[in-house]
Amino acid sequence: MTDREKSIQNVAVIGAQWGDEGKGKIVDLLCEDFDVVARYQGGHNAGHTVKFADKHFALRLVPSGIIHPDKLCLLGNGMVIDPQALLEEVMGLREAGVVIEDNLLISDSAHCILPYHKALDLAREEAAGVAKIGTTGRGIGPAYESKVGRYGIRIADLVDPDVLKQKIDFTCAERNAVLSGVYKTTTFDPQKLYDDYLRYGEVIAKRIVHGTEWINEQIRAGKRVMFEGAQGTMLDIDHGTYPFVTSSSTIVGGICTGLGVAPKHIHKVIGVGKAYTTRVGGGAFPTELNDEHGEHLRKRGNEFGTVTGRPRRTGWLDLPVLRTAATINGLDEIALTKLDVLDEFDEIPVCVAYNVRGKSWKSFPAFAVAHNDYQPEYRTFKGWKQSTAGITSFDELPQAAQDYVRFLEDETETRASIISTGPRREETILR
Ligand code: GDP
Ligand code: IMO
Ligand code: MG
Repeated sequence: MTDREKSIQNVAVIGAQWGDEGKGKIVDLLCEDFDVVARYQGGHNAGHTVKFADKHFALRLVPSGIIHPDKLCLLGNGMVIDPQALLEEVMGLREAGVVIEDNLLISDSAHCILPYHKALDLAREEAAGVAKIGTTGRGIGPAYESKVGRYGIRIADLVDPDVLKQKIDFTCAERNAVLSGVYKTTTFDPQKLYDDYLRYGEVIAKRIVHGTEWINEQIRAGKRVMFEGAQGTMLDIDHGTYPFVTSSSTIVGGICTGLGVAPKHIHKVIGVGKAYTTRVGGGAFPTELNDEHGEHLRKRGNEFGTVTGRPRRTGWLDLPVLRTAATINGLDEIALTKLDVLDEFDEIPVCVAYNVRGKSWKSFPAFAVAHNDYQPEYRTFKGWKQSTAGITSFDELPQAAQDYVRFLEDETETRASIISTGPRREETILR
C-alpha cells in the first residue's frame, strides 16, 4: 500500500451511467479491505449482482458487503425500505448460506415503503400510458414523495405503536382517497397495515440504530467505510435525465445527506461504467442501438434486469455521460466493466459529443433531453476481435482494447484503475 492509499480511509462506489454498471461486482471485489459497507439511497429498485467461483447473489436492499461475514452493513437514512422485501431478501440470503446476524443494521431515520406507495407507482405508470417512466414498480417514487411531503413513516416509527397508528391512519386515508378517486383502484385497510408494520418493527427492532451516530463512531474509530451507490448518475433526481430518473440523490452528494457523513470523510470516489451503455425504462438514450449490434450487446452482456428481468436498452459508449459523472461526482477513478462484451465487433463507435441544433455539447443539456433534440457525434474504433474474457493484466489486452481504454481515460480525464473482463471477482484487471 502506498502512503496515499493509506490515507484513503473511506471510498464511494457510484454508478456513472444509468444503473446496472456492475457496482455489485466492484463493491464485492474491493470491500475486502473495508470494515463497513453502507447504502445511502434508493431501495429494492436496485439489483446488484455478485459472482465468484460457482456462487451467484442478487442483492436488492442489503449492501453487497454482506457476502463477507466480517463486514458490518448499514442501510442509511437516505434509503426507502420495504420491510417485507427486506425480510424476504434476508431469508433468501440465509438460505444461500450468507450469515446475517448483528452485521446488518438499519438507520432509524430511513423511510418505509408501504403497500399504497407501490399501488400508486403502478397506477400512475398505467395511467401515464406511453409517457410512463418505466419504473421498477416498487413504490420508490411515492415513498420519497411521502418523505419530502413530511408525512412519511420512518423505521423508528415501527417501534413506537402510538405514533405508528396515528401516522398510518392519517396517510393511508389520504392515499386511499387518491387511489380510489383518481385511479379507481384498490385501497388499503389502515388497521391491517398497522398490524403488519408493527410486526415488521418487532422483527427488525434489534437492527435499528441511530444511523448517523453509528457510522460517525465507526469513522472516528478508524474503521474503513465503503459507500455503495445504487442506480446511476444519469438517474439522479437533480442531475439525471429528468423526469426519467429515480427519486433519490444517486450522486456523491447523496452520501452526505443519506448517511449524515461529512464530505471530508469521503476520500475517494470510484465511478463504475460499462464499456458501452445500457438503460432500463423510458427516457433519453442518445447512443441507443435498435439493430443487430444492440441485440448482440444484450445477448453477450446478458442485459436483462436483475430485479425485474426486463430486457435492458443497449447502445455505444457515451462519453458526455461519463464526463458528466466524472464532474458531478469528482471521480478519482473509473472501474470500467464488461470490456469483454465488445470482443466480437469489427468496429466500435464511441459518442464523443452531441450535436444540438448545430452546436456541439460535451455534456447533456437539459433542454435537449426535454425535446429529444440531440445527434450523437461518433469516433469509430477498430474492434479487437479476440477474447478478453477473464484477462487479469492490462498488458495482455489486445492493442485495440488498450487504445479504447486510453481514449476513454483521456476524454474523461479519469484513470480506469479497474477493468472488468467478466462477471466474477477473479475476472478483473487491477492497475
Ligand atoms: P449493478 O446494479 O451496477 O450492481 O449491476 P447489475 O448486477 O445489475 O448488472 C451487471 C451485470 O453484469 C451482472 O449480471 C454482472 O454479473 C455482470 N458483469 C459485471 N461485470 C462484468 C464484466 O466485466 N463482464 C461481463 N460479461 N459481465 C459482467
Ligand atoms: P441498480 O442499483 C437500472 C430505473 C427504472 C426507471 C427509473 C425509475 O441495479 O443499478 P424507480 O423504480 O427507481 O422509480 O424507477 O429508474 N432504475 C434502474 N435502472 N438499475 C437500477 O438499479 C435501477 N433502479 C431504478 O428502470 O427507469
Ligand atoms: Mg442492477
